[in-house]
Amino acid sequence: MTTWNLSGMKSHLFICNGSSCMRKGAENITLAIRDEIAELGMDEQIHTTRTRCNGRCKDACIVIAYPQGSWYKASSAEIGREIVRDCIEQQNIQHTIYRTINGNMMLNSEVASTTGIDKNK
Ligand code: FES
Repeated sequence: MTTWNLSGMKSHLFICNGSSCMRKGAENITLAIRDEIAELGMDEQIHTTRTRCNGRCKDACIVIAYPQGSWYKASSAEIGREIVRDCIEQQNIQHTIYRTINGNMMLNSEVASTTGIDKNK
C-alpha cells in the first residue's frame, strides 16, 4: 500500500468512482484527468484520489478540488482535462457546480445541476 507525502500539493482532486458516476464514464474521466496531469507535468502539484459516491449522482461524474472547494460536473473525458487546467487557477466556472467564495459554497446557477435537498431544514 502506498503512503503519499502530499506536502506542497496545490490541489487534490477527488474523482467519484461510485456506481452512478461509473455508469456515466468515470473510468475514462479518471484516466483522462491523470493523463492530463502527467502531460502538463503537474504530478507534484495535483494529487488525485478515486472516491465512492459523493451524494450528487444526478450530476455525475463528480470531481471535487480541495483546498479550492470547487465541485465539478465532468460529463466527458475532455471536461476532465479542462478541470485539471482549472483546478488551481479557478478562472473558468463553466463546469463547476459549486465554488467556495469567502468560505461559503455557492451554487453556480450557470451550470445545469440538481439543487438537491436543503441540509438546513
Ligand atoms: S456515484 Fe458519484 S456522486 Fe454518487
